[in-house]
Amino acid sequence: MSEHRVCPSHPDLADDLATLQRLCFPTLGTDELITAQQFRHHLQVFPQGQLVVLDSHDRPIASASSCLHRTEFVHSEHTYMEASGQNWLSSHTPDGEWLYGIDIGVHPDHRGQGLSRLLYDARKALVRSLGKQGLVVAGMLKGFAKYRANMTAEQYLRSVQDKQIFDPTVSVQLRQGLSVHGLLPHHIDDPTIDGMAVRLIWYSDVASRI
Ligand SMILES: CC(C)(COP(=O)(O)OP(=O)(O)OC[C@H]1O[C@@H](n2cnc3c(N)ncnc32)[C@H](O)[C@@H]1OP(=O)(O)O)[C@@H](O)C(=O)NCCC(=O)NCCS
Repeated sequence: MSEHRVCPSHPDLADDLATLQRLCFPTLGTDELITAQQFRHHLQVFPQGQLVVLDSHDRPIASASSCLHRTEFVHSEHTYMEASGQNWLSSHTPDGEWLYGIDIGVHPDHRGQGLSRLLYDARKALVRSLGKQGLVVAGMLKGFAKYRANMTAEQYLRSVQDKQIFDPTVSVQLRQGLSVHGLLPHHIDDPTIDGMAVRLIWYSDVASRI
């Protein structure tokens, strides 16, 4: 059992969160990395959706940012920048039926210790407390970079789902009970994976399946 706990984020953590972001997403285009100013702004837009895990010195070692979106948006072919409102959460829709995970990252020194599971559990608890349909994320197909010369994204994703290939992001998300709902091509500015992401959904008890 982890000694760590999920806490609400706080404006004083924004600089450290921006540093953590750069460590977690080294291959992402710089325009898509969340800045300290943007992390502070998220707290004004949707404070409940901004979660962190702190170390013993109260510094963030993991974080998750979320907003709300409507079903039509969840269904659509969209990009990361559209989902995140250009990283400012201007896309947040307070009456949206779905909690949408914009970003999750764990410090490289603290991976494999169950921190992302804590954050996903906290997101699921938030879905239930807000009476929403479920959680949606666009998982980056991080491991595709190594395989893309030899297989399509569809073939790669099938191998990940069949557990023949472990994807450092999507395999972890599948372990959290999220299920695959199609590829999102050109989703994110990461040339190492051709911008490829996959729509993943976890349904709450009240969800009507989409
Ligand atoms: C993806 C990421 C958030 C996972 O965080 P993490 O804290 O290391 O994950 P956890 O330790 O909570 O593991 C979650 C589950 O995946 C499994 N898992 C994690 N790494 C694994 C590995 N290398 N091999 C097999 N299983 C693994 C764990 O066993 C765990 O399963 P369980 O909860 O059923 O026991 C982290 O690697 C990260 O920050 N990556 C960079 C940023 C990123 O890609 N974010 C997602 C963008 S869509």
